[in-house]
Amino acid sequence: MAEEYKIDVIKTENSKLKSTSFDNLPFGKVFTDHMLVADYANGKWEKVQILPYGPITLDPAATVFHYGQEIFEGIKAFHNQDGNDYIFRPDKNWERFNKSAVGLCMPEVPEEIFIGGLKKLIEVDRGWIPTAPEHSLYIRPFMIASQAFLGVHPAKEYKFIIILSPSGPYFGKPAAIRIERHFTRSAKGGVGYSKNGGNYAASLKAVEQAEKDGYDQVLWTAPNEHKYIQEVGAMNVMFIIDNVAVTPELDGTILNGVTRNSVITVLKDLGYSVEERPISIDELAEAHKAGKLTEAFGTGTAAVISPIGKLELSEGNIINFDVEKFEIAKKIKATLDDIRLGRVVDTHNWLVKI
Ligand code: COI
Repeated sequence: MAEEYKIDVIKTENSKLKSTSFDNLPFGKVFTDHMLVADYANGKWEKVQILPYGPITLDPAATVFHYGQEIFEGIKAFHNQDGNDYIFRPDKNWERFNKSAVGLCMPEVPEEIFIGGLKKLIEVDRGWIPTAPEHSLYIRPFMIASQAFLGVHPAKEYKFIIILSPSGPYFGKPAAIRIERHFTRSAKGGVGYSKNGGNYAASLKAVEQAEKDGYDQVLWTAPNEHKYIQEVGAMNVMFIIDNVAVTPELDGTILNGVTRNSVITVLKDLGYSVEERPISIDELAEAHKAGKLTEAFGTGTAAVISPIGKLELSEGNIINFDVEKFEIAKKIKATLDDIRLGRVVDTHNWLVKI
């Protein structure tokens, strides 16, 4: 990696580490002592700093507040049983982040700032990596358009920021999911593949309504007909039908999940067949009727492998899964945990040492 960007480190004099309880950590509510902030202006990344964690100042006319030019990523770091700390597949997130950037007319972030900066930030806040089972250091890199300007055009100034959050599980129990048949998350030709805040803002109304009816999240469907499933928003989905793992294909409307990709790789390693293809609600209903739909789970960085306990296909047509009987999801989760915690050889070189 070229040594083009100097990263200045200004450490806090008031660490919160000793006064923070690591018991029952929630997801994404506790933040470490430092953050990385890089500024883009004049066509280049100009300043990269690790600073004490805290509020940032932006002009009220900054483009991000008006037209939503914002993208983000989710990555995890773990304390491994060999005593070292590792980040899981940050190269995939860096790649996806820059695809999201291109989609929203934002500048790409060089590897030296994204991965190099991330490693340096975690080195500074290493003591914050939780060690309890199912816990990790959740990493949230994001970029916002900071130029003060009200024209509807790509901004010329940006901030790239990384914050860190020691976190427990995203879903503490099997998820209750409703297949969404009214609202739409994304259509072909849109930016459903990218991790931009707008996709998530536009998902809130459907999720709010689903929550009122006792569900945790919705499973989005392709627009207009609402016949084919897409993803959950906080995770991709996978089903086991007749002992084959099936998941929606990457058609540009869903996120190219790093965990989705890891799960597909591990499934193939374990000898399972995997099909990435369109899946209709009718197919799920028929497979369930025939007793062939045996498992349903979400895959995501935050969600890891989240079993789906309840799935509403259509009004009054609900599948209740016995998640205790999910053999394949359990096997995949155990294998991923073994890789991430260094209990087996990392044959795919997924772990990056800090
Ligand atoms: C992740 O899995 O890292 C995500 O970004 C999903 C999320 C919005 C919590």
